[in-house]
Amino acid sequence: MKVTIVGSGYVGLVTGACFSEVGIDVTCVDIDQKKIENLNNGIIPIYEPGLEEMITRNMKKGRLSFTTNIAEALEDSEVLFISVGTPPDEDGSADLKYVLAVARDCGKHMNDYMLVVTKSTVPVGTSKKVKKALQEELDKRNVDIEFDVASNPEFLKEGAAINDFLKPDRIVVGLDSQRAEDLMTSLYNPFTLNGHPVIFMDIVSAEMTKYAANAMLATKISFINDIANLCEIVGADINKVRKGIGSDSRIGPKFIYPGIGYGGSCFPKDVQALIRTASENNYDLQVLKAVEAVNKYQKLVLFNKINTYFKGDLKGKTIGIWGLSFKPQTDDMREAPSLYIIDSLLKAGAHVKAYDPVANNEAKHHFGDTITYYDEQYEVLIDSDCLAILTEWPEFKFPSFKIIKKLLTEPVIFDGRNIYDREQIKRNGFEYFCIGVNT
Ligand code: NAD
Ligand code: UGA
Repeated sequence: MKVTIVGSGYVGLVTGACFSEVGIDVTCVDIDQKKIENLNNGIIPIYEPGLEEMITRNMKKGRLSFTTNIAEALEDSEVLFISVGTPPDEDGSADLKYVLAVARDCGKHMNDYMLVVTKSTVPVGTSKKVKKALQEELDKRNVDIEFDVASNPEFLKEGAAINDFLKPDRIVVGLDSQRAEDLMTSLYNPFTLNGHPVIFMDIVSAEMTKYAANAMLATKISFINDIANLCEIVGADINKVRKGIGSDSRIGPKFIYPGIGYGGSCFPKDVQALIRTASENNYDLQVLKAVEAVNKYQKLVLFNKINTYFKGDLKGKTIGIWGLSFKPQTDDMREAPSLYIIDSLLKAGAHVKAYDPVANNEAKHHFGDTITYYDEQYEVLIDSDCLAILTEWPEFKFPSFKIIKKLLTEPVIFDGRNIYDREQIKRNGFEYFCIGVNT
């Protein structure tokens, strides 16, 4: 089977690499010429563990190729995946211009039956718009070619994307034709062998499932952050409370880690877009509005702790930062809490020295030379007045506290990810501020 994937970003590249890994012939398309040129030269545009090796291996085997030419890619393809971005519009709703542009391109160039699958995260009703846009192009050409549309939302997490794709908890597919179901069944067969099911449903329900899943996960995070803030006030320890509630199988231990708010390219925009869909349908999603409000507050909780410690006067203070990306194992800075915290520190007159294992270059697009970047984690601390941890990279978990203490002007750590044992760190002579524990 030959598959075309349009949009070679996180989702498109991971999807393309994983399909080719199981022997499917894949062509990835993008309008970004430089990106395609780089990919053809073995330069992968994102940091995602395991992706570079998988892409290189499958390119060598001749099963994976990259092009800007969609017409060429569609020759012999039976299935086209749309995996372009759906960024927020000014009013918070998902901007569908890239998705619909691909649908039109497909209508302009397809010459045989095509199953057009939307993998991008799109609001309820988008598949109908895809169908209409594509049909309009076929009509313009005055040709009668059969096609189906389907919705196949993607649930991968950045940093663990390959594993999530190869061994998904489930694959959700919305469709309305037997031919489409047969094609999707055979395409996903290699990924269901370990008992991971494909859940078939109608298209609208599949579109809604994606937003409901992200909204539920964002809700868990805002809920635990809200409780963490209350724990600080009443003298409880969120780390203990988290374990206490997470061991109830109805609640579960995942996605209840308190921190500095959820970031990334998806939760913030998808929560916003779902609120927007609801209001367009005259419904008020009250829980999600609260989830968003808590997250906005949470992004500045660590800044407020730093500011309070320095008695509201950060002018001339130097803050050493470990971690810039929105989560470990990625260089993605989109909506990273670090953006908000560092902006606030700079506005308050502080200097910022930062280290991230992979995201320094991405961070430069946001901060330019307003902060100083380091390639080594301890160098950040030389003459810094404190250390703030913004991303829980594994290499930060067991540092030399001796060296940290020697380099900082004051032995104080602000930990936005609760990675240290409070008692141990205090025994090492530090003042320690984390999330959800009154220190
Ligand atoms: P991305 O920004 O990394 O990549 C999108 C790519 O599409 C870009 O390379 C862009 O040049 C290309 N593109 C735009 N218009 C095009 C066109 N007309 N033809 C060809 N290429 C075009 O985006 P992403 O992070 O991969 O996300 C894509 C979609 O998947 C979004 O809807 C997102 O919400 C969803 N999603 C993302 C993740 C994730 O972890 N990043 C996970 C699940 C779902
Ligand atoms: C998220 C979902 O987990 C994926 O299932 C989904 O496919 C994807 O969005 C998407 O639609 O794009 P991702 O954004 O890559 O994946 O990363 P997550 O691991 O979900 O983390 C998101 C944010 O929540 C991060 O800022 C992380 O630090 C924060 N988080 C996560 C917490 O603060 N606490 C937790 O317990 C878990």
